[in-house]
Amino acid sequence: MTESNDIPIRLTLNKSLKSVFCKPTETLLSLLRDGFGLTGSKRGCNQGLCGACTVLIDGKPMRSCLTIAATCNGRDVVTVEGLLENGKLSTMQQALVDSGGVQCGFCTPGVAIALTSLLREDPKPDRTKIREALSGHLCRCSGYIKIVDAAEAAAEKAGS
Ligand code: FES
Ligand code: FES
Repeated sequence: MTESNDIPIRLTLNKSLKSVFCKPTETLLSLLRDGFGLTGSKRGCNQGLCGACTVLIDGKPMRSCLTIAATCNGRDVVTVEGLLENGKLSTMQQALVDSGGVQCGFCTPGVAIALTSLLREDPKPDRTKIREALSGHLCRCSGYIKIVDAAEAAAEKAGS
């Protein structure tokens, strides 16, 4: 139900223009998950530490749990669901699956967003740069090596 202090915003979400009212203190993560039903972005720590909620805002990876939804008025937001290409996993997403970098999968949405952003900025990153891009992403399962392998494989595939 809309209340008098709710804030109207318009944003581009996964390439679709959306108009929505949000609470003044509502986070983008809550809006995505609870408002739009986009549950790919995970609520891990909810305080900016784990990276599981990471989305692209105007092309940059950002913590959606630390972003007030109303500040996204007029901005372009892409979630892990928005990385799909023609309904299929993107090259980066598929590489994560193929490499074994997806175990429980809880960190995967944030990791996929971070690595997609990295490869857009630097199509051939070395392993140090890949590790740097992953530095804000906690993974309890994979040991990271397979995730780094996935980024290398995706870069190779995109460049071939
Ligand atoms: S849920 Fe946002 S950084 Fe952990
Ligand atoms: S695959 Fe389980 S936390 Fe990363």
